Amino acid sequence: MLYKNLGSTNLKISVIGQGATHVGSYAWYDDDKAKERIRGWRIGIEMGMNFIDTADLYGGGLSEELVGQAIKGIREKVVVATKFNPQGNDTSSAILAAAEGSLRRLDTDHIDLYQIHFPNPLIPIEPVVAALTQLVSDGKVRYVGVSNFSIDDLREMQNFFPPGIVSNQVEYNLIDRSPENETLPYCQQKSISVLAYSPLGQGKLSLDSYALQCLKVLAEKYQKSFFQLALRWLVSKSQVIAITKAANMQHIKENAESTDFVIDPDDLAIIDKFAMPEVVYIPIDRISINSPDGRPTYASIEEALKNAADLIPSPELLAQDLVKRKSAKPIQLISYNDPQGRYLYKLDPYDFLGQLRKYWAWVIAYGREKPIPALAKE
Ligand SMILES: NC(=O)c1ccc[n+]([C@@H]2O[C@H](COP(=O)([O-])OP(=O)(O)OC[C@H]3O[C@@H](n4cnc5c(N)ncnc54)[C@H](OP(=O)(O)O)[C@@H]3O)[C@@H](O)[C@H]2O)c1
Repeated sequence: MLYKNLGSTNLKISVIGQGATHVGSYAWYDDDKAKERIRGWRIGIEMGMNFIDTADLYGGGLSEELVGQAIKGIREKVVVATKFNPQGNDTSSAILAAAEGSLRRLDTDHIDLYQIHFPNPLIPIEPVVAALTQLVSDGKVRYVGVSNFSIDDLREMQNFFPPGIVSNQVEYNLIDRSPENETLPYCQQKSISVLAYSPLGQGKLSLDSYALQCLKVLAEKYQKSFFQLALRWLVSKSQVIAITKAANMQHIKENAESTDFVIDPDDLAIIDKFAMPEVVYIPIDRISINSPDGRPTYASIEEALKNAADLIPSPELLAQDLVKRKSAKPIQLISYNDPQGRYLYKLDPYDFLGQLRKYWAWVIAYGREKPIPALAKE
């Protein structure tokens, strides 16, 4: 395993971290599944992946509790990162209480990296900074990071928070390379870690056939799997750490072994050049939003604003963020032909709720007239 410093600190973290999502919840608790995830994380830690990422939102707190069980007796070997939900915790006292809740569930006296899960443009920065400053001075939090922040938001936090922000956790993989526009260069310049979430595109790196062919040939050359190559490419970039989620033991092993080879600079350049998906602009009325398997959906702006399914962050909050940052991450769509032969699109069913949020945030922010930036797969 390779290690990098967390931001400009002396703390060494494995370049491949272990994500603690998809653990179920208290209402949908599966003891066998929980035990298997704990076993998986411990095997990952033994194989060198000392960095674990969780959040108070994952499984409504269950994820933190399971991580707490996984690190029992080996706490000093592990760098524990968690996040608080700034939509539900929007005052200093609420953030302090959220941190106490995380510490209790993690069964630890300190959090190594405490992250703001996403920007909340509706709350002032002062109470957030006050709470984080107190947590650091009390020794309950070692370092503070952010997640899903634009560089403007990150810069603002840097200015207000003297201990400094050490990381920004953003989606970054072969099919979503948007961090390369601003986030990555800024963070590299300022020695801030870029924690790449969904580094394997949630297990579905659908590239166009030419790029796919290039990557398969390269994977064969290095005798690695396509996903190991994708991880190695990511972490070959300065400041980048990849946070994978793997429940399958073979995947855990492959991820831990994804840094025991080096990709030649010429091959890195090939991947950089050919795995660059094209962003297209799709009219809103060409997109259908039927739920793939009965998951909640919204049929109108009013319903999206009401957010009865309690999507977090809410479409409204995301819309505010969209307007503030003046740029949008592309929505992921699947294209299909309707019975009349018209070219239409539906939200990627694999990450339906994530895409649903982005869709409604766009419509709330810009109405139905403005085409939405998208990555469209067949
Ligand atoms: N800050 C945020 O807003 C945010 C948002 C999303 C995610 N995250 C963090 O990022 C972590 C990872 O995100 P993710 O689950 O979206 O993405 P991911 O790691 O890109 O994808 C996970 C999927 O890839 C599969 N997989 C893992 N290793 C593999 C391998 N070596 N070969 C083939 N398939 C493999 C997994 O299958 P198995 O599970 O069956 O092994 C799972 O289906 C989360 O756990 C969380 O910590 C943060």
